[in-house]
Amino acid sequence: PDGNLLDTLKRPLHDLRISVTDRCNFRCVYCMPKSVFDKDYDFLPHSSLLSFEEITRIARLFVAHGVTKIRLTGGEPLLRKNIEKLIGMLSQIKTVDGKDLDLTLTTNASLLAKKAQSLKDAGLTRVTVSLDSLDDATFKQMNDVDFPVEEVLNGIAVAHQVGLGPIKVNMVVKRGLNDQEIVPMARYFKDTPHILRFIEYMDVGASNGWKMDEVIPSADVISRISAAGMELQAVDANYTGETAARWRYADGSGEIGVISSVTQAFCQDCTRARLSTEGKLYTCLFATGGHDLRSLLRSGDTLHSDQAISTVIGQIWRTRGDRYSELRTQQTIRLDRSTRKVEMSYIGG
Ligand code: GTP
Ligand code: 5AD
Ligand code: SF4
Ligand code: SF4
Repeated sequence: PDGNLLDTLKRPLHDLRISVTDRCNFRCVYCMPKSVFDKDYDFLPHSSLLSFEEITRIARLFVAHGVTKIRLTGGEPLLRKNIEKLIGMLSQIKTVDGKDLDLTLTTNASLLAKKAQSLKDAGLTRVTVSLDSLDDATFKQMNDVDFPVEEVLNGIAVAHQVGLGPIKVNMVVKRGLNDQEIVPMARYFKDTPHILRFIEYMDVGASNGWKMDEVIPSADVISRISAAGMELQAVDANYTGETAARWRYADGSGEIGVISSVTQAFCQDCTRARLSTEGKLYTCLFATGGHDLRSLLRSGDTLHSDQAISTVIGQIWRTRGDRYSELRTQQTIRLDRSTRKVEMSYIGG
């Protein structure tokens, strides 16, 4: 492996996001709308999924290439059977510098209260929770499966208690659906140890019928919160390539983040690779195709030693030139509708 692996835009490889299932028990309207993800939808069969051994083998190769953070996603990652076992295996891997990985996951928190302790014991570092509203009616309208806010808040509380904090709370903002919840969410999380982040609704996948006028620009989020009397000040990023721009409350009561992939694309520092549930490597969230690593793992061909797979990964990263969000225009969006981008529930958030 090459410790100085860079893509064509000189971006290093630092994060690996692994989707462990394409299934979810929610049907968020911006991600898995019921009209598409219905009872006839073909989810991946069990035989397609990478096994924990296969995932761990690939993860090791990525870490040898310089990855320091691994995030498990889905679908809903806590639906994958024995996920604690996978976390235990991944937590053994050390970075090139001999440190522990930042090992985290993104969850809708439906199973978090039940699983937080076992996840922590297995070696998970922290969690990110998705929550789009504090108002039950609005939240249920968004998750579309009648899931109550209270249980998500309970999941966050238990995760915090067992030491999986600081917890980040992600809110996707969609105009006309939950934008009235921006200020209440800010107010609620302001005096907690959790970090609330507002995400611009994205044109990811091919099912959500995205329209530009349904995006609330992050600049508006900041001004709405300030206008409600919670003054904010910009803070420097924790690290190059951070997705969220940070803001802190002037009164010292913590910080929020805004993830502006539509109005202020952050492709120039994008260090993220994504591994799908069935073992395809994607170099962008908006990719239309991935590179099949599973067939290399399963070929039984001695040529596909760790060394050979590692070389393939290096080659894929070196030729990477993705910067979809920077190139996005009304025109590319119209073109993309016909090319069928990969779904968020398949590739992970
Ligand atoms: P932290 O280290 O916890 O801050 O991780 P992160 O910033 O990668 O955050 P997280 O995984 O929680 O990502 C939050 C959201 O940002 C995702 O759900 C996506 O909506 C969006 N996002 C993350 N990575 C990308 C990316 O590479 N491109 C785009 N366009 N959006 C992204
Ligand atoms: N736009 C922005 N974020 C999205 N997510 C899923 N779909 C979208 C979208 N269309 C992200 C959210 C959610 C995570 C699981 O995926 O952050 O919390
Ligand atoms: Fe499930 Fe998360 Fe997608 Fe909602 S956003 S449907 S919780 S994967
Ligand atoms: Fe990275 Fe693609 Fe997102 Fe740009 S659009 S930040 S290249 S994943």
